[in-house]
Amino acid sequence: MARFSLVIVVALCITISVFPDTTTAQLRNDFYKSSCPNVEQIVTKVVKDKVKQTFVTIPATLRLFFHDCFVNGCDASVLIQSTPNNKAEKDHPDNVSLAGDGFDVVVKAKKALVAKGCSKVSCADILTLATRDVVVEAGGPKYTVELGRFDGLVSTAASVNGNLPGPNDNVNKLNALFAKNKLTQEDMIALSAAHTVGFAHCSKVANRIRNFNSTHFVDPTLNKDYAKQLQAACPKNVDPRIAINIDPETPRKFDNIYFKNLQQGKGTFTSDQVLFTDGRSRPTVNAWAKDNAAFNTAFVKAMTKLGRVGVKTSRNGNIRRDCGAFN
Ligand SMILES: *[C@@H]1O[C@H](CO)[C@@H](O)[C@H](O)[C@H]1NC(C)=O
Ligand SMILES: *[C@@H]1O[C@H](CO)[C@@H](O)[C@H](O)[C@H]1NC(C)=O
Repeated sequence: MARFSLVIVVALCITISVFPDTTTAQLRNDFYKSSCPNVEQIVTKVVKDKVKQTFVTIPATLRLFFHDCFVNGCDASVLIQSTPNNKAEKDHPDNVSLAGDGFDVVVKAKKALVAKGCSKVSCADILTLATRDVVVEAGGPKYTVELGRFDGLVSTAASVNGNLPGPNDNVNKLNALFAKNKLTQEDMIALSAAHTVGFAHCSKVANRIRNFNSTHFVDPTLNKDYAKQLQAACPKNVDPRIAINIDPETPRKFDNIYFKNLQQGKGTFTSDQVLFTDGRSRPTVNAWAKDNAAFNTAFVKAMTKLGRVGVKTSRNGNIRRDCGAFN
């Protein structure tokens, strides 16, 4: 009997210790129903105001959410500021270079919530809601957001290493990185299309438009006119702060033109263009280039799955008072 209960205790411990990183059980649409019934309206108002001030809020927030979830789960660890004793996630060289306005929108929403008596809303949930709201502001699909994430207790620059996709990644590499987060190739393609409202620094495309390799000056998968456009926008010795639109056709609209661009060789990063050049992902690109509604459905599904990655509970997280610092 004693041995039997020991087995049960051990089994329970295993279940409990595995639970935090795999559970979606705590996530619910109405998580703040009693503690903050207006959480959505309060965040949405802040996002709308911020987007009116600067469009960059949209790509910056999307990038921030993606980075947060891919490194240590969707737990607002990306928002933590470095201290003399800890170099945080956000200061890794692969950091969110455009994300200042994403940080700002979360900080402002947190302030607005606290002012309305909602001090128990996590920074991780604020970022998740703000991300949905910026998609809507850009004309993308409006979807229901699952809530109930706790804020993480750890943020290190070292944890970023090898976990974020890079501009020169191929489909194998992209699929592997997304699979680590239980995301499929379809999810990967749908989430890549967030570049429909993205910006890129010239340094990230420089290798495609000049001295590509010894036989091709320009990447041969790049549309010739678009290559000229990129060369003009990104001259040699360009100011490193200059950013270009990733979607050259409808850069401020969340739409499936991203996929039509790929069909024409107008993918800005190698990691965009390979989605069309690789025969495994091309059928999906072609399908969504034709059907915006199908793309929207896939995007919402992928975002919902992304929002479940590495969710923290009260056991390994808390509700931060200041989104940029541990309590
Ligand atoms: C990104 O990291 C660099 C150091 O690697 C830092 O100087 C810069 O401020 C960081 N950018 C943001 C937005 O945190
Ligand atoms: C240059 O790139 C093209 C296209 O990827 C490739 O076909 C060619 O073999 C490369 N040349 C060299 C010398 O690597």
